[in-house]
Amino acid sequence: MRIKLRYLSSSFLLLFFLCYVQSQEFLPNTTGYTCSPNQTTNQCQTYAFYRASAPNYRASAPNLLDLASIGDLFSVSRLMISNPSNISSPSSPLIQDQPLFVPLTCSCNTLNTSYSISFANLSYTIVQGDTFYLVSTYLYLNLTTYQSVMIVNPTVVPTELEAGDVVQFPIFCKCPNETQLQNQVSYLVSYVLQPSDNLSSVASMFGIETQSIIDVNGNNSQTFETIFVPVTRLPQLPQLTQPDAATPASPEAGKTERKGVNTGLAIGLAICGVLLVLVTGMLIYSEVILKKRRKRKSDDAEKQKLQFDKGGKGFKNMEVNLMADVSDCLDKYKLFNIEELRAATNDFSEDCLIQGSVYKGFINGEVYAIKMMKWNACEELKILQKVNHGNLVRLEGFCIDPEDANCYLIYEYIENGSLHAWLHENNNKKLNWKTRLRIAVDVANGLQYIHEHTRPRVVHKDIKSSNVLLDSNMRAKIANFGLAKSGCNAITMHIVGTQGYMAPEYLADGVVSTKMDVFSFGVVLLELLSGKEAVDDEGRALWTSVGGILEGNEESKVKRMKEWMDVVFLQDTCSMESLMSVTDIAIACVHRDPSKRPSMVDIVYALCKSDDLFFDISEDGIDPQVNAR
Ligand SMILES: *[C@@H]1O[C@H](CO)[C@@H](O)[C@H](O)[C@H]1NC(C)=O
Ligand SMILES: *[C@@H]1O[C@H](CO)[C@@H](O)[C@H](O)[C@H]1NC(C)=O
Ligand SMILES: *[C@@H]1O[C@H](CO)[C@@H](O)[C@H](O)[C@H]1NC(C)=O
Ligand SMILES: *[C@@H]1O[C@H](CO)[C@@H](O)[C@H](O)[C@H]1NC(C)=O
Ligand SMILES: *[C@@H]1O[C@H](CO)[C@@H](O)[C@H](O)[C@H]1NC(C)=O
Ligand SMILES: *[C@@H]1O[C@H](CO)[C@@H](O)[C@H](O)[C@H]1NC(C)=O
Ligand SMILES: *[C@@H]1O[C@H](CO)[C@@H](O)[C@H](O)[C@H]1NC(C)=O
Ligand SMILES: *[C@@H]1O[C@H](CO)[C@@H](O)[C@H](O)[C@H]1NC(C)=O
Ligand SMILES: *[C@@H]1O[C@H](CO)[C@@H](O)[C@H](O)[C@H]1NC(C)=O
Repeated sequence: MRIKLRYLSSSFLLLFFLCYVQSQEFLPNTTGYTCSPNQTTNQCQTYAFYRASAPNYRASAPNLLDLASIGDLFSVSRLMISNPSNISSPSSPLIQDQPLFVPLTCSCNTLNTSYSISFANLSYTIVQGDTFYLVSTYLYLNLTTYQSVMIVNPTVVPTELEAGDVVQFPIFCKCPNETQLQNQVSYLVSYVLQPSDNLSSVASMFGIETQSIIDVNGNNSQTFETIFVPVTRLPQLPQLTQPDAATPASPEAGKTERKGVNTGLAIGLAICGVLLVLVTGMLIYSEVILKKRRKRKSDDAEKQKLQFDKGGKGFKNMEVNLMADVSDCLDKYKLFNIEELRAATNDFSEDCLIQGSVYKGFINGEVYAIKMMKWNACEELKILQKVNHGNLVRLEGFCIDPEDANCYLIYEYIENGSLHAWLHENNNKKLNWKTRLRIAVDVANGLQYIHEHTRPRVVHKDIKSSNVLLDSNMRAKIANFGLAKSGCNAITMHIVGTQGYMAPEYLADGVVSTKMDVFSFGVVLLELLSGKEAVDDEGRALWTSVGGILEGNEESKVKRMKEWMDVVFLQDTCSMESLMSVTDIAIACVHRDPSKRPSMVDIVYALCKSDDLFFDISEDGIDPQVNAR
C-alpha cells in the first residue's frame, strides 16, 4: 500500500511539473513582488488572509482545521492567530473555509544585485509526497508560488526533495511605503483572489474603497494571485458558528476513499503501461478531491456568506481623541508648532535624518531629536510623561500637526549616537570594558526605574543596543518608548519587537511582562561582552550561543570565555573575573523560563558588585589577574 501511494505522489509531481512549465507564461507576478531594499520601512509586521481547510493532496496531509497546525505552518502561536481573527477559544476546531488573519514578519530580501522581493521567510519541513507546487497551493493556499520557492531555494533541486528537507517558503507580503504610512495604512494584508471574488467585493469585505486596492495592485489582478489590501486596522472577522452534524469528512469516509484510489491504481498497473497509470492515478485522485470538495460545499451550504464589519473609521475621531488624551500634560511640556519643526529640519530633509523617522533639528539654538509619528504617538507620550530618570531619554515637548494628525515628539539630543553603532559599526574606536560595564549599569538603572518605580509598571518591550544612546560622557540613556506598555502580565496579539532580542514566551504567546525586558537586556549584555551582533549573518540569535560557556572547571571556563568574548578585552586591563561574572548575569537574563530570570533590582545589585570589584582593582593599578578573589 505504502509503495503505491508513493508512486501516486511522484506521478503527481511529474504531471504537475509538466503542466506548470506550460502555464507559466499566463501567471503574472509568479516569482514574487519586487521591493526596494533601501526603503526605510524595510521590515514590518503584517497579516495574511487565510482560509482553514483540510487539504487532501497526499496521504496524511495535515488537517489544517485547527489553529495549532496552522500556527505550526506559519511558525506562530495559536494566540497570535486567534486574537486578530476574532476567535475566542483558540483550542476549538475550525470550520472549513473559516477566515483567519495569520501574522507575518515581512521583509525585503535581496536575491541578487538586481532583484529584491518582499516576503515572509517561513521554514517548512518536507514530508513524503510534498512538492513545491503542492505545498504552495494546498498548504499555503497560493500565498506563494512554486516559482518563487525555486528562486528562494536555489540550492534545492525541486525534483529530488526528500522527507526531512527544510525548504524556505516565501509568503508574499508587502510593507507600506512612506506615502501609504502617511495615509494611515498600517497593513497591506496579503489576500489571494478567489474565483468568486472581484475587487469591489474584496474591498467591501475589508471596509475600504475599491480604488485603494487598485492603487496598490492595479486593476488587472488574476484569480489565485496575491493582492495587497491596504487597511488602517484589521476588520473584525465574523465568527462562524460550528455546524453540528457537518464535521468535514469523517475518518471512516477518508479510509474508504483512499482504498478506492489504491485499488484503481493496482488495476491500472496490471493493465496499462506506466504512463497510462500515471494519468489514471491523476484522474482518479482529482475526482476524489472534487467529490470531497462538493460534499463539503453542500455540507456548508447553509453557512452564511462572509461579512466583515466596516473597519475604516474616520481619522477625524482619532485626532480629537489624541488632543483629549494629551491635554492633561500640555503644561508639562513645551508645545512646538509645525512651522518651527519644518524650519528646524529643513522641511524634514534627508540631511537631518538621524535614523528611521527621527530628525535632528536646531530650535532657538538648542539641538533636539524630533521624532515623526503617526497618531499612535499617544501611547509613548502617556508613558513618557510618567517617567523621569537620568538614564531615560528626556522628552522636551511635542507638536501635533492639525492637518494630517501627525504627531511629533521632541527629545533631548544625545550626542554620541547609539550603542549599536559603537559596538558594531565604528570599528576604529572600540569601547573598553570599564565603559561597557558603566553602560550596562546605566541601562539596568533605567530599566529598574521603569519596572519598579512607575505605577502601573512600564515595560519597554524593545530594549536593544540601537535603543541605547550614549551622551557626551558615554553615559547611557534608554530611548524609544514607542512600543512600551504600561501594565504587566498582559497578552498582546500584536507581536512587535526586534529579532534576536525578543523573549521566547513573548514570541510564542505574546506574554508581556517586565521579564521580557530582562531578556532583551541580557542580549545587550551579551553584545557588550562579545562585540557580536544580536543576530549573526546566518540568522542565529546570539543568546542561543552562550549556554555552555560557564560550565566545567575554572580552566575550561576561562579558555571558552577567551574564545567567545570581544578580542579587545585581551589587550584591556580588565579582570577575567569581572567579565565572567557579567557573563553569568547575562546568561541568567536569557533563561528560557521567565520565572527563572532575575529582576532588574537583582541585576543592578549584581552588576554594581562586579563594578566595584573592577574599579577597586584597576584604580589601584594592581594586575587583576593576579589579584583574583
Ligand atoms: C505584477 O504583474 C503585473 C503584470 O505582469 C505588473 O504590471 C506589476 O508591476 C507586477 N507587480 C509587482 C508588484 O511586481
Ligand atoms: C535605492 O536604490 C536604488 C537602486 O537600487 C538607487 O537608485 C537609489 O538611489 C537608492 N535610494 C536611496 C535613497 O539610497
Ligand atoms: C536575478 O534573479 C532573477 C530571478 O531569478 C533573474 O531573472 C535575474 O536574471 C537575476 N539577475 C542577475 C543579475 O543575476
Ligand atoms: C530564510 O530563513 C533561513 C533560516 O531561517 C535562512 O537560512 C535564509 O537565508 C533566509 N532566506 C532569506 C532570503 O532571507
Ligand atoms: C491555487 O491556484 C491554483 C492555480 O494556480 C488553483 O488550481 C488552486 O485551486 C489554488 N488553490 C487553492 C487552495 O485555492
Ligand atoms: C462583484 O461581485 C458581487 C457579488 O459577489 C456582484 O454583486 C458585483 O456586481 C460584482 N462587481 C463587479 C464589478 O463585477
Ligand atoms: C507607495 O505606493 C503607492 C502604491 O503602490 C504608489 O502609488 C506610491 O507612489 C508609492 N510611494 C512612494 C514614496 O514610493
Ligand atoms: C484598468 O486600467 C486601465 C488603464 O489604467 C483602464 O484603461 C481600464 O479601463 C481599467 N479597467 C477597469 C475595469 O477599470
Ligand atoms: C466576532 O464576530 C461575531 C460575529 O460577527 C461578533 O458578533 C463578535 O462580536 C465578534 N467577537 C469578538 C470577540 O470580536
